[in-house]
Amino acid sequence: MTKKVTKAVVPVAGLGTRLLPVTKSVPKELLPIVDVPAIQVIVQECVKSGIEEVIFITSRGKGQITDHFDYSYELESILAERGKTQELEIVRNIGEMIRTVAVRQKKPLGLGHAILCAKDVVGDEPFIVLLPDDIIDAEVPGARQLLDVYEKYGQGVVSVMEVPDDEVDRYGIVDGEEWSDGLYRVRMLVEKPQFEEAPSNLAVIGRYVLPPIIFDYLEDVRADDTGEVQLTDALARLARERALVGYKFEGERHDIGDRIGLITANIAFGLKRPELRDRLQSYLREICD
Ligand code: UTP
Repeated sequence: MTKKVTKAVVPVAGLGTRLLPVTKSVPKELLPIVDVPAIQVIVQECVKSGIEEVIFITSRGKGQITDHFDYSYELESILAERGKTQELEIVRNIGEMIRTVAVRQKKPLGLGHAILCAKDVVGDEPFIVLLPDDIIDAEVPGARQLLDVYEKYGQGVVSVMEVPDDEVDRYGIVDGEEWSDGLYRVRMLVEKPQFEEAPSNLAVIGRYVLPPIIFDYLEDVRADDTGEVQLTDALARLARERALVGYKFEGERHDIGDRIGLITANIAFGLKRPELRDRLQSYLREICD
């Protein structure tokens, strides 16, 4: 029997340099997808996927992210006084959404190091990681899809997607074979390879279900030339010494850590909103003609 996954680790301690200048003063995780901060979209995905606790890995200047999921007594009492019941419900629901824990990453030493910071809070349990840069727009939430695969096979799972040739040097790339529709046995992972050296076009995307042994592997990973501890190195060891499944998730992924992804996410989610759809659609038609 596989252990139930109840905890999600969401690292938000990165610098967000690709989105400067806005990230100089606003954490990218709080940038809006229409009117919802990106981090709330991620936490909603956790809730819909049956997760019970979110562990944020935070850093200096990112306090607003965890504050967002607290109760806001002042705002709530003003909204109640003014009879703004709908708005009050929106605000209250965020406070009640899920249990949260914050762990500090004191220096931005890479994604692998950020995950390692969650070791004591996660304990000896499997857990899921969601990178808030990757917004997955899908009927079945991305995290739920991965957890279903984990529950079936009892092994670590990473989400993968095919990327164009000229983008393989931006991702961790999978060397493996497809053993069933959309499911890959991962042999190796290569971090940001040149196209000529890339074993495939299958890139690892920001959702992972991991066994707790990953913390031991992360402790052994040496920082790379840039001083960062890469999660990919620990995942590659997991694939080598145990097992790792690559799962081609269903849905559309927007990388909101990048300008174009932030814009496409806003258009895609805007078009889903009944009150915005017609006006947005006619505006897009007008400017594209
Ligand atoms: P990115 O590689 O996107 O880095 O991290 P970044 O610093 O956020 O953004 P850029 O590349 O400078 O624009 C992937 C995820 O890992 C987290 C980030 O917050 C993001 O969710 N991260 C990265 C940390 O929590 N700590 C780190 O030291 C590095």
